[in-house]
Amino acid sequence: MPAGIIKPTRADHLLMSERVVMSRLAVVFGGSRGIGRAVSQLLAQRGHRVVVLSRNKNAAQATTESLPGEKHLALSCDVSKEDDVQRAFETISKTCGTVGYLVNAAGINRDALLLRSKSEDMMSVLHTNLLGSMLTCRGALRSMLSHGGAIVNIGSVVGVKGNSGQCVYSASKAGLEGFTRSLAKEVSSRNIRVNLVAPGFVRTDMTTGLEKEEAVRRIPLGRFGEPAEVAQAVLFLLESPYITGQVLLVDGGLQLAL
Ligand SMILES: NC(=O)c1ccc[n+]([C@@H]2O[C@H](COP(=O)([O-])OP(=O)(O)OC[C@H]3O[C@@H](n4cnc5c(N)ncnc54)[C@H](OP(=O)(O)O)[C@@H]3O)[C@@H](O)[C@H]2O)c1
Repeated sequence: MPAGIIKPTRADHLLMSERVVMSRLAVVFGGSRGIGRAVSQLLAQRGHRVVVLSRNKNAAQATTESLPGEKHLALSCDVSKEDDVQRAFETISKTCGTVGYLVNAAGINRDALLLRSKSEDMMSVLHTNLLGSMLTCRGALRSMLSHGGAIVNIGSVVGVKGNSGQCVYSASKAGLEGFTRSLAKEVSSRNIRVNLVAPGFVRTDMTTGLEKEEAVRRIPLGRFGEPAEVAQAVLFLLESPYITGQVLLVDGGLQLAL
């Protein structure tokens, strides 16, 4: 090599290979509405092919039809059901190929004081928010093992800080945090990264019933977040080649006040 030319390091090669892969297959559970929809839009804008999944196939279809680019796919899938998740990944691998990105944005809340919480609601929250993400990660890993990939789970500031009236929801999101860190350790040697975005109050269907003025008073930035602002953080983690096992709060500073 002539003098003055710097030989690229292994890290440079890794960075370059991440940039060369222009388009990836991105799978977004809970992609039909709210944060997942915004993530799907941002990924499609970046030129990725997106598979949007939710229980309501028509809503998922409406989202894929609104995305820029071609060949996006809408599927119906209930993440709390193992058979549904398995079927979804079979369809994805047959029709779309290898999964590069996975985003777990499917989630529900059934907020109530623990003494008033019904067992079936507790099970639904845990099965959707926690077990559901475990099932989808397992499904995606089978596809990612040979080529590497990146996963972002959507947690919550409530999983980090706790909140009265949200014991079960908080447990599901705190569990997701532990799961994210452990899985990051488990699959790092296969160049698969796993991170978690923990939003605060975001303007989606999930927060329509909330007493907004009361909530906004507690947020240092003085407003709810927009789904697109959370999507930006998700994209950052998906594309950052040297970040894994990280929890990124996207909450307008709410954690500082809790
Ligand atoms: N909004 C907030 O302030 C906030 C704050 C912190 C964390 N989060 C978390 O962010 C994630 C997205 O929330 P969001 O506010 O965007 O909620 P959202 O607007 O209610 O959207 C939820 C999405 O998840 C899907 N979904 C729900 N249950 C599902 C299931 N069993 N299987 C498959 N898909 C399912 C919904 O579609 P279908 O109903 O058609 O299935 C929808 O696409 C959730 O994990 C939530 O806990 C939200």
